[in-house]
Amino acid sequence: MGCTLSSESEPHNEHVEDLTIVRLNEAQKELVRKSWRAVQSDATKAGVIMFVRLFEIHPECKDAFFDFRDVADLEIQASRELRAHGLRVLSFLEKSVARLGKPEHLDELILELGRKHYHYNSNPKYYMYLGTEFIRVIKPILKERWSSELENAWMTLFLYLTQMMKVGFEEEARKQCHTAALALETQRLGDREVL
Ligand code: HEM
Repeated sequence: MGCTLSSESEPHNEHVEDLTIVRLNEAQKELVRKSWRAVQSDATKAGVIMFVRLFEIHPECKDAFFDFRDVADLEIQASRELRAHGLRVLSFLEKSVARLGKPEHLDELILELGRKHYHYNSNPKYYMYLGTEFIRVIKPILKERWSSELENAWMTLFLYLTQMMKVGFEEEARKQCHTAALALETQRLGDREVL
């Protein structure tokens, strides 16, 4: 990220300048819209399972959720907070699916989410894990309707989401870095005046 002044998150390897944002084609958008209707009713379950699996594989992610620190996994699973957070992610997914036809609007929504995640201390390297877990959860729900095209469509949606979130995250990291540098400079000038 290049700024050691303000970011609390660890640096991550991929730089947004190197990213070519992946986008869904019209057929993929239609596949996602249709299958979403079937998944929607299991949204709470899907949201909780996604995060429980993420925490099992990457326990370090718990640190982003202050309330979950030092709490045993079973307790977390039962906790209202986890359910609430899973639902927030799922409801964002719902919004995204509904706005697939309005890419400029959706881009801005996701960029803003990425900016917020800078302050949640959540490293972008973990975002795509949620996509992988989401696909693992919805596969058995969709049963015989599942196909490699459908899997590709959902994978593409999550790639697009996570790449745009990274762009927003980096934007915010740069902004905070700039603000911190300015504050430091102002303080230095003030100190010089006093001397
Ligand atoms: C595709 C990936 C992800 C999506 C779509 C997503 C979505 C969201 C949404 C919609 C919110 C609520 C924002 C608001 O209040 O306006 C949120 C909050 C939050 N997210 Fe994420 N998130 C993702 C990945 C992650 C990961 C991997 C972590 C941690 C490692 C994380 C940590 C948090 C935290 C700490 C909050 C604030 C607390 C809360 O709302 O419960 N997120 N996220």
